[in-house]
Amino acid sequence: VTVCDVVDRRGAITDGELALVEDALREAVVSNVGLLSRAAEHIILSGGKRLRPQLALLAYKALGGPDIAEVIPLAVAVELVHTASLVHDDITDGSDLRRGQSTVNARWGHTVALLTGDFIFIQLLRLMSVLDSRIIQGIADCCLALVEGEAEHTLSLGDTQITEEGYLRIVGQKTGALFSACTELAGTLAGGSPDQVAALRDYGLHLGTAFQIRDDTLDLTSTSEELGKPVASDLRQGKMSLAPLYALQRSECAAEVLSSPDSAQAERFLQSIGAIDYAMKIAAEYAGAAKQCLRALPRRKATAALADLADFAIARAR
Ligand code: IPE
Ligand code: IPE
Ligand code: MG
Ligand code: MG
Ligand code: MG
Repeated sequence: VTVCDVVDRRGAITDGELALVEDALREAVVSNVGLLSRAAEHIILSGGKRLRPQLALLAYKALGGPDIAEVIPLAVAVELVHTASLVHDDITDGSDLRRGQSTVNARWGHTVALLTGDFIFIQLLRLMSVLDSRIIQGIADCCLALVEGEAEHTLSLGDTQITEEGYLRIVGQKTGALFSACTELAGTLAGGSPDQVAALRDYGLHLGTAFQIRDDTLDLTSTSEELGKPVASDLRQGKMSLAPLYALQRSECAAEVLSSPDSAQAERFLQSIGAIDYAMKIAAEYAGAAKQCLRALPRRKATAALADLADFAIARAR
């Protein structure tokens, strides 16, 4: 089941609307330098779920926004933020696989990947000139949260003392803030009431948190074929998440098992002491909290699709 299947089932976004986003994304990655165009196109057209643009479109529609063209630049902007962050993330995580293809850094090297991320980010800045200042401010705020969250996570590498609250705060920044910007800013554009816009903001933050917790468990339990990106990457880097933190609190031998290069053994261990189930229980709580926020919104197809996406965030296999 893909994001598109989930949204299609409700008939909440048309193919034509999605095509507007795709066309603008394609246009945004054209550079005078062929290498930058090729590298940026490589990542943009590699088959991402396009979850963030769809969140923006759905939030706009959930509040009865009158003209879809109004929310398209935001939908494109959030996908560009996401894409630029992935290109840089793959450098910092030392990843060679993304969406089942080689990463920009694996294919063209670190320098080109760094420049490609910068290029995409700068195209985002250029695109933002059509947006009003409240929206620009919101996008800038979520970019700041993203980079600060990534920096905090990097500073905490190998820190087995990090608390669950600390982990969840980082996740809220590095992933939740962008999700939240998608829905909150789209709600603002739709002319929602302060309560509705706040509900969309909280929905996005909870959804993003659930989504990242799921991502972190998939890193521990999935295969790279299934996921389209490397697995066991977080443990190798000493990047903590709920399941290893749970294990470290409950088992004497956790530190040793989790730091060994045998990732299959680490997975069996985490499964056997219920650490994966625990992490997914917390993810489900966040997904549930996201759905609760939707009660403040009008009942529309788009609102139902947002609820379905909360289920998708924790059930997804990639
Ligand atoms: C990956 O996001 C990065 C995380 C926040 C976990 P997605 O899973 O939405 O990536 P794509 O765009 O579908 O590849
Ligand atoms: C999410 O973290 C990346 C950002 C929010 C920038 P991950 O490092 O877990 O993302 P993947 O697993 O590589 O997609
Ligand atoms: Mg990564
Ligand atoms: Mg990362
Ligand atoms: Mg990950």
